[in-house]
Amino acid sequence: MQDNTIHIVADIDALSAAAAQRWAALSAHAIAASGQFHVALSGGSTPRYLFERLAGADYAARVDWRHTHVYFGDERYVPSDHADSNFRMAYEALLRHVPVPAQQIHRVQTELPSAAAAAAAYEAVLNSHLPRDAYGNAAFDLMLLGVGPDGHIASLFPGTDILQEDTRLVAASYVDKLAAWRISVTLPVINHARHIMMLAAGAGKTQILSYVLGASPGSEPLPVQMIEPTGGMEWYVDEAAAQGLATR
Ligand code: 6PG
Repeated sequence: MQDNTIHIVADIDALSAAAAQRWAALSAHAIAASGQFHVALSGGSTPRYLFERLAGADYAARVDWRHTHVYFGDERYVPSDHADSNFRMAYEALLRHVPVPAQQIHRVQTELPSAAAAAAAYEAVLNSHLPRDAYGNAAFDLMLLGVGPDGHIASLFPGTDILQEDTRLVAASYVDKLAAWRISVTLPVINHARHIMMLAAGAGKTQILSYVLGASPGSEPLPVQMIEPTGGMEWYVDEAAAQGLATR
């Protein structure tokens, strides 16, 4: 994993404020340059705080939602109204509150008969909507990512075959430890993003952060250590998650 900037802030509230400001800046830059902003949301619990802040009055005017395209870096293979759905979380926390045109909200169609079918359909969505970088790679303007205590990012879990996928943009992955199917963008898509924002908060992330940011990858790097960004990459971490970092 290449060097990247680490922003250490007091708590989840400060983390969400800092990340929201960065989102607004990246969005304004992309829209000024290309007329649109293509962002992939992460799931789990941390980003909810960011989404709720972006849904607030002060960001209603600061972000050009009508020129924003929203995607999902990964999704659980559950109905979109299921409690575990990343779409449902994002819809409730952000998307129902901001004027992103419905046709610009690109949900993973988990109603399709298999996770593989949902992944194939989503790959077609990325291929038809995402801008290309100078090398022809589909490139998000911003990729939000969290990191699990085991070092997973999106739904790229340690020891899963999807980590070796270097052709497809999206794939289905059965995660043994969760006994569940996931749909996820692959590492090349993450690496080709123009900007990656990693969000990590809470004492539960202390160990993984000090391992990942404090040490060079071991013989078998964790998924989060396999990120080789071609664009920018920043970490937004709170004090609790950063307590093991040497830079403290
Ligand atoms: C998911 C996420 C996943 C998440 C990490 C961290 O679908 O669960 O995309 O990769 O980002 O598990 O989740 P927390 O922010 O809840 O710790």
